[in-house]
Amino acid sequence: MLLDIRNLTVSVDDKQVLKNLSLSIGFGETLLLMGPNGSGKSSLIYSIIGHPSYKIKEGSIIFKGEDITYMPTEERVELGLGVSFQFPPKIHGVTIRALAKRLVERKGSGVDIEAVAASLNLTNFLDREINVGFSGGEMKRVELFFLLIQQPSLVLLDEPDSGVDVENMAIVGNAISKLLSNESHITTDKPSGMIVTHLGYISRYVITHRTYIIQNGSIICYGETESLVKDVLKHGFDGCIQCYGRRRACTKHGKERL
Ligand SMILES: Nc1ncnc2c1ncn2[C@@H]1O[C@H](COP(=O)(O)OP(=O)(O)OP(=O)(O)O)[C@@H](O)[C@H]1O
Ligand SMILES: [Mg+2]
Repeated sequence: MLLDIRNLTVSVDDKQVLKNLSLSIGFGETLLLMGPNGSGKSSLIYSIIGHPSYKIKEGSIIFKGEDITYMPTEERVELGLGVSFQFPPKIHGVTIRALAKRLVERKGSGVDIEAVAASLNLTNFLDREINVGFSGGEMKRVELFFLLIQQPSLVLLDEPDSGVDVENMAIVGNAISKLLSNESHITTDKPSGMIVTHLGYISRYVITHRTYIIQNGSIICYGETESLVKDVLKHGFDGCIQCYGRRRACTKHGKERL
């Protein structure tokens, strides 16, 4: 497994946001993560990347065979984790080009900054301060731009499609598809991914291996993406939770893949 999360319980400001959550992602696999507002999706991403406010109470996070549960964020990023945030921060005084240049130099990847910017319709944004005055959809493209520059081996995308208009959806979808293929990478390994989404449109652009449903900080269900997304859109998460309640008694509902 590339990422193995075991029985993770996490609190922020004394509020428990994840409860005994287990989930694993194999090499080259991509998962979708769906769940109601406030169910813990962003908290899971913050916990994996090591946001200091998210206190691990129990459990472990193993990435590339290393226990990263208490590792500083910058070391996790060096190891190959990359995140696109639901609400990306603004960075005053630093242009997109300046940060991208530093990242390319550090990685020695030779990535063509102009070409990546052009593929995301961001050519005219390179000399602006990061996310300062950007629209919601523009910030989503900037997040993907930096991930294409960084070339992580595991990308965690928090609602990369929310607030993105119809024309830009194809641009965002294709960028994610590229991010998760090895065509843009200097290494030959195919990256893995976890994509948080509410409507699942992104699965039209990316092959996903399965979809997980989170509720109250725990994974309650998983399944094949197409049928699960269809069920969620038809019956809502309430239907999903009722279905889980019925199946909980079923011994065939193995949890070994969670
Ligand atoms: N600092 C905090 N203090 C108190 N509660 C918090 C804090 N941070 C997060 N929470 C709560 O934790 C819960 C999980 O939040 P999280 O952002 O992970 O939800 P989410 O599943 O990403 O929701 P959404 O779909 O709206 O993005 C929410 O109820 C949120 O209000
Ligand atoms: Mg969220």
